[in-house]
Amino acid sequence: MPQSQQQSRILANDPLTAEVFRLTVYSPEIAVAAAPGQFVMVQVSSSLDPLLRRPFSIHSRGADGSISLLFKVVGRGTALLAKARPGDKIDLLGPFGRGFDLSAAEKPVCLIGGGMGIAPLLFLAQELPGRKHALLGARNRDELAPLAKFFADIGCAVQLATDDGSLGHHGFIPDLLDEVLPDVSQVCTCGPSPMMRGVARKCRAAEVSCQVSLETHMACGMGACLGCAVPGRDGSYVHVCKEGPVFNSEELPWEL
Ligand SMILES: Cc1cc2nc3c(=O)[nH]c(=O)nc-3n(C[C@H](O)[C@H](O)[C@H](O)COP(=O)(O)OP(=O)(O)OC[C@H]3O[C@@H](n4cnc5c(N)ncnc54)[C@H](O)[C@@H]3O)c2cc1C
Ligand code: FES
Repeated sequence: MPQSQQQSRILANDPLTAEVFRLTVYSPEIAVAAAPGQFVMVQVSSSLDPLLRRPFSIHSRGADGSISLLFKVVGRGTALLAKARPGDKIDLLGPFGRGFDLSAAEKPVCLIGGGMGIAPLLFLAQELPGRKHALLGARNRDELAPLAKFFADIGCAVQLATDDGSLGHHGFIPDLLDEVLPDVSQVCTCGPSPMMRGVARKCRAAEVSCQVSLETHMACGMGACLGCAVPGRDGSYVHVCKEGPVFNSEELPWEL
């Protein structure tokens, strides 16, 4: 589907915690073209400073031509984004990248998200027709509880893990996977690299297909700058913004 640049009206910018926000914008052209796992490049201020757009996964799609982004304030760009108010306009470019492959999606799918890696999985859950199981992890209850509710509200079976044990399993999400793996035909994951490698390792052992979404640093988001290149399996480099961000874990040279 084609990309477009849209001055999009902000419908809401809801704080879920002191650092995590859900930004909803009216962006019908991007909404209709978007597929789960794709991302948009956001101009975070109306001036040219900061110059570079920031990449954000599409978190959900509304029936009204809206899309939502879920973001955490980690630096200057996201701090500016947190100040955006309903009625403001924001410049979006997208959707970009290769999203999740949904071709075997009629069978149960397990979605595994850690931290802000949870963001693209809600859109995926919205679009999956069959049964879906979400294993979600974050640092603590405050960060995880509002996100878990979004998944439960659309009919996912949800299991949770927190680093501090304040909600769900006290520990890492891959710990929860053994119980679920026999019942699913594929796993889709996004989050910290050690978590995704742990998930991919278990999937390989169980011969279950595993799709991973990488969030490398990006400058252009469209294959022009080489800023997002990571090693591929055959010794060449792949561009996460064009050939990804979603890869089958077997396409990556991970030691599993
Ligand atoms: C395809 C893709 C999808 C993404 N989706 C989301 C999302 O849905 N929600 C979300 O909160 N974030 C997401 N990110 C990360 C997001 O783009 C960065 O957090 C954001 O650009 C930071 O901008 P900033 O100006 O606030 O921080 P900066 O001032 O640019 O950087 C602040 C700190 O964050 C680090 N940082 C910046 N970008 C990244 C990155 N890509 N990976 C790891 N560390 C980084 C920097 O090294 C620095 O330490 C995504 C990234 C990619 C590539
Ligand atoms: S971000 Fe420029 S080539 Fe991928």
